[in-house]
Amino acid sequence: MMKLYDVYPLNPIEIVKGLGSRVYDSTGQEYLDLYGGHAVISIGHTHPHYVARLTDQLNKIGFYSNSIEIPLQQQLAALLGEVAGMDNYQLFLCNSGAEANENALKLASFYNGKKKVIAFDKAFHGRTSLAVSATDNPKIVAPVNQTENIVFLPFNDEQALEQAFASYGDEVTAVIIEGIQGVGGIKVATDSFLAKIRSLTTQYDAVFIADEVQCGYGRTGAFYAVNDGGVSADIYTMAKGMGNGFPIGAIAIGEQFKPWHGQLGTTFGGNHLACAAALSVLEVMKQDNLMANTAQVGNYLINELKKLDKIQEVRGKGLMIGIDLAPELKEVRKELLVKDHIFTGNASPNVIRLLPALNLTQADADLFLDKFNNRLQQF
Ligand SMILES: Cc1ncc(COP(=O)(O)O)c(C=O)c1O
Repeated sequence: MMKLYDVYPLNPIEIVKGLGSRVYDSTGQEYLDLYGGHAVISIGHTHPHYVARLTDQLNKIGFYSNSIEIPLQQQLAALLGEVAGMDNYQLFLCNSGAEANENALKLASFYNGKKKVIAFDKAFHGRTSLAVSATDNPKIVAPVNQTENIVFLPFNDEQALEQAFASYGDEVTAVIIEGIQGVGGIKVATDSFLAKIRSLTTQYDAVFIADEVQCGYGRTGAFYAVNDGGVSADIYTMAKGMGNGFPIGAIAIGEQFKPWHGQLGTTFGGNHLACAAALSVLEVMKQDNLMANTAQVGNYLINELKKLDKIQEVRGKGLMIGIDLAPELKEVRKELLVKDHIFTGNASPNVIRLLPALNLTQADADLFLDKFNNRLQQF
């Protein structure tokens, strides 16, 4: 029998069904899902509008290539511009977060003809060539991806950034940053750091790329996390929450970038089915005012978590929350899953990551707080 290439450490759970913020395993056990399949489930599992729109589209046509007109793409661009409150950007559709970052970095270099990229300690930008080169994890960077074109600077260190630009600013094509680092442990970029990136990239004709793959698309209560910090980027990259599980990624590209035929491309990007999925997500986000819910329930969770003893630190914004636990509490996350039937995410060294659907209810937030507090007391 052909075997799977074994790269994922697995929980011995088979999820067979989902509904809103609940998932169910093959034995019928129900779980509260505060992980959202890794920040992907934005409007809840099997949302009826999502299922209906995808089913309807699949019955018409699921895919045809980018060599023909696909009006769904323009509809998606228009709605995305509206929901994000930024309609003066251009949309390029692709298939994943890594591909979005890959294209953003490439586009920056096409634009200003330069080569050096500034990224930050603990950054995660994906696993394809440039994206993984800009990821601060030597274990997953293959020798062929090692390049002197990427420089890592300390996160939130304005002085280091100023020094870097002072010494080689003319060579910098782009600065890429997650407004809130996800894999890095829910570290929030300060407003003044983002402002410094904005002013230095403008001064040196470098491109400000906001990697919004995890922290964006409404997750912080703002559409883009860096905008919440008071700046706007030249290119925004997005993926995870965009299709509520249907693979789709995109970059929003500033007006100063001029396309030419063939400059970027992909076979699957922007296909009919992916556009239908992404449109249904934005329609639900708009109709149900999900960003307001995210801000409200998220801020409530953050404030309540801060009141619990035994927690070292709570970080994040909206429904992107990191909870630092002391080393002796490292079993808490596993117990939450196995005994309380609550899915959460993690980050090293000992961070619980909450990345639930943006329509998480106050009642489910309370349910988690109650179970989590009880679990903490047992250690
Ligand atoms: C901030 C960030 N950028 C990029 C990626 C890569 O996205 P994908 O796995 O869709 O390629 C991720 C995935 O976790 C991410 O968190």
